Amino acid sequence: MSAGDLFPSLDLGGTAVTPALLLAPMAGITHSGFRRLIADFGGYGALTTEMLSPPAFLREDPERSPWIRRRAREGSVVYQLRLSGEEDFGALFAKLAALSPAAVDLNLGCPAPEIQRLASGAALFRDFARLERVLAGIRAHYGGPLTVKCRLGDDPDNWRAPFLERLRLFEDHAVAAVTVHPRFSGEKLKRRARWREFPWIAAHTRLPVIGNGDIRSPREIADRADLFRPLAGIMLGRVAVEKPWIFREFAGLPPTRIDYAEVWERLVRYTLEDFPPERALGRLKEFASYYCRNFFFGHELHRRCLGARTVAEVHASALEFLRSDPQLSA
Ligand SMILES: Cc1cc2nc3c(=O)[nH]c(=O)nc-3n(C[C@H](O)[C@H](O)[C@H](O)COP(=O)(O)O)c2cc1C
Repeated sequence: MSAGDLFPSLDLGGTAVTPALLLAPMAGITHSGFRRLIADFGGYGALTTEMLSPPAFLREDPERSPWIRRRAREGSVVYQLRLSGEEDFGALFAKLAALSPAAVDLNLGCPAPEIQRLASGAALFRDFARLERVLAGIRAHYGGPLTVKCRLGDDPDNWRAPFLERLRLFEDHAVAAVTVHPRFSGEKLKRRARWREFPWIAAHTRLPVIGNGDIRSPREIADRADLFRPLAGIMLGRVAVEKPWIFREFAGLPPTRIDYAEVWERLVRYTLEDFPPERALGRLKEFASYYCRNFFFGHELHRRCLGARTVAEVHASALEFLRSDPQLSA
């Protein structure tokens, strides 16, 4: 049984996400070029943009911006926003609605200090009154599919009651689905996500719950079906950067032969089509820092990419490594 069988479809307030396998929002990574690469392989039900900053989003041209633009073959794309409540919701949601998003997702999980200083991400999840105002403000301007993505909260010893209050708030504002990344706001990605909380969360809301965090293979879903079955869908992040074809495995599609050098070249080409070289460089390095995990001596690929000063340099040194038939990691 594939994960696609376990999560065949998810209704996001009128938009069917089929299968209910989603790409996580990742700043610096899930830009239009990377989404295009993932779309080439297929197997997912929806992709997510990077977290969009409202002032930048309002300035960007949707036809050209690498954060906003969407190619037809990407299919369903969720647009993720950070909000604090100080924004012009009228302008923001008029522009978003015109993009026909599969959903607009509100970031309530990002623990990065610079985002929390803007009263967004985890800081918005923490501030119940502000969160309520933000959700009401969204709903005053936007009736389309709205999702939220959050962590468990701040306090490992006392998170359930505040979490339940927020689930009620989401239900009251017609949120279509909640993605939960079950870590606390102070936890780094190194510590394991608490999958064991998925059944409790799903049992305490009528909303579909999408599970996220450290999910790397369909085998894990099968082995821990007791934890994953109550979920409506799953969301993959870092593993999809490491293996942009991974959704095929989860969906039970036939495997394709992977030419690692060709996939890299394609990503470089796609990124440079959408970004000027000086902005592409950091994104290619970020991608390479995950892609290198495919190889036994991947730290060598990582080292070469980090040291590169131009796109031509990062491209050439990665290609040299990838064409040397490097040993794959176990
Ligand atoms: C480089 C990077 C950037 C991220 N950016 C965002 C973001 O913009 N919005 C968000 O909600 N989560 C963001 N996340 C968190 C991921 O969406 C996801 O919750 C987390 O990586 C755990 O899932 P995974 O184990 O499948 O990667 C980011 C994670 C990484 C590694």
